[in-house]
Amino acid sequence: MNKYIGALFIILISVCVAVDLTPYGIKLALTKEPQNIKVTWLTNDKGDTPTVLYSRASFTPDESSSNEFYPIHSNAGAVESFPSLVGYWNGNANQAVMANLTAYTTYFYYVGDREANQWSQMFNFSTRGFGRSDYASIAVYGDMGHGGVGIDRDENYTLSHIMERQGYFDFVLHLGDIAYADITKGSHIFGNQTVWDEFLGVIQPVATILPYMVCPGNHDVFFNLDVYRKTFYMPTDKEDDSWYSFDYAGAHFVGFSSEHDYIPLSTQYNWLENNLKHYREKNPNGWLIVYSHRPFYCSSKYQWCEDFDVFKLMFVSSLEKLLMKYNVDIYLAGHSHTYERTLPVYDNKVLGTFQNPKATVHITIGSGGNKEGPTYNWLEAPEWSNGLRSSHTGFGKFTILNSTTIQWDFVDNYSDSIVDSFVVTKGYF
Ligand SMILES: *[C@@H]1O[C@H](CO)[C@@H](O)[C@H](O)[C@H]1NC(C)=O
Ligand SMILES: *[C@@H]1O[C@H](CO)[C@@H](O)[C@H](O)[C@H]1NC(C)=O
Ligand SMILES: *[C@@H]1O[C@H](CO)[C@@H](O)[C@H](O)[C@H]1NC(C)=O
Ligand SMILES: *[C@@H]1O[C@H](CO)[C@@H](O)[C@H](O)[C@H]1NC(C)=O
Ligand SMILES: *[C@@H]1O[C@H](CO)[C@@H](O)[C@H](O)[C@H]1NC(C)=O
Ligand SMILES: *[C@@H]1O[C@H](CO)[C@@H](O)[C@H](O)[C@H]1NC(C)=O
Ligand SMILES: [Fe+2]
Repeated sequence: MNKYIGALFIILISVCVAVDLTPYGIKLALTKEPQNIKVTWLTNDKGDTPTVLYSRASFTPDESSSNEFYPIHSNAGAVESFPSLVGYWNGNANQAVMANLTAYTTYFYYVGDREANQWSQMFNFSTRGFGRSDYASIAVYGDMGHGGVGIDRDENYTLSHIMERQGYFDFVLHLGDIAYADITKGSHIFGNQTVWDEFLGVIQPVATILPYMVCPGNHDVFFNLDVYRKTFYMPTDKEDDSWYSFDYAGAHFVGFSSEHDYIPLSTQYNWLENNLKHYREKNPNGWLIVYSHRPFYCSSKYQWCEDFDVFKLMFVSSLEKLLMKYNVDIYLAGHSHTYERTLPVYDNKVLGTFQNPKATVHITIGSGGNKEGPTYNWLEAPEWSNGLRSSHTGFGKFTILNSTTIQWDFVDNYSDSIVDSFVVTKGYF
């Protein structure tokens, strides 16, 4: 009997030793509460006590380095594996929240497992104003994947250029087509975990400093978006939603999924309409910023942008009226691997000006720099087209200057400088 228990014990010990809880794919995200920042990470094995440790001074992950001036906070998190994907996808998705943070303060943090006492390296990031003032600046791009990486590679692409300006930004917004990790086999879409995980490693230097907000693109739909959702844990109302909203700097941000059903009376459509309605009723003067992967207006020679694309027609006819009805000020998207912007436009008609918008202003910024390359050719410029149309890679600087003014700049990868800008005044329609 004793021998038997002893053998069991040894087996248990060796199982424990083999457990690999090394955190990877570490990144920050905004939550519904501006002063709470979520941190998410992946592990090969499933730990029992995923935890984030954080403090205002640098520390080692043990109690001895805590002191009364700079206490170490330890917040328990949650972990879930990818159960429906057994055999296809290994790993466990961890999340924990750094709560009650102070504005304009640097925090040091580790993620890991408390019982196993296994931790990441120490990271640090600086909070900004939590969007409590009317000012915020956001780095925006879609369609990045491996092509646009740059960091730790031999050229400065999108991420390197954002990194140089990190102090300027409140967060990053990646408008879908995240890692280009999808593989299509016949009618099935699978995911390549090597590509996905490598991409998370590439964004980690930026995403551990700036909250990394995302929405799903057509290249992220594998495994029913389970991998997408559990990797990023956006601030959704319900666990399985792929759409969400949050408030920041006097603006309401709504990210929906152009990759789900969105026709009127679908679950997502109802959620979107209720969300926009609820916000607008209570905030007639607030900025309303909506984004998804696919644009309503684009003019490159790319199928989605050509008038005859039936999926585009369905998208526009289902959703554009919501933008008008609830006075959505700005709509952001990627999908076309280009940069362009519109005058205030609804139903293909220009309504008002940037100084007095009577419809939504649209920006397409699918120029993160992905492996498929840019779309080089353009349709004849429609009436609503305005400013530069560019096939260069680059990212947008979306700056809420105050409650009545938003400034947009496009930073071109080639010159690492702003090559297109415009200012929009709050419009009422
Ligand atoms: C945050 O602060 C509130 C109010 O002081 C407190 O009730 C709550 O427990 C704190 N949360 C965490 C996770 O520290
Ligand atoms: C904070 O992190 C950055 C890397 O993101 C590092 O270069 C810097 O040295 C860290 N600061 C401190 C005080 O540890
Ligand atoms: C990126 O450019 C900066 C200068 O703008 C340079 O210091 C840095 O070494 C470059 N990084 C890479 C990875 O090439
Ligand atoms: C997944 O991507 C890796 C790295 O690019 C590649 O070596 C591997 O062959 C891919 N696997 C599949 C199943 O396509
Ligand atoms: C907002 O910022 C713009 C540009 O700096 C300025 O012209 C305007 O007066 C400001 N409005 C308010 C209400 O502060
Ligand atoms: C970025 O710009 C550099 C020139 O500064 C160019 O060599 C490189 O090909 C560009 N990369 C992309 C992905 O556009
Ligand atoms: Fe796309």
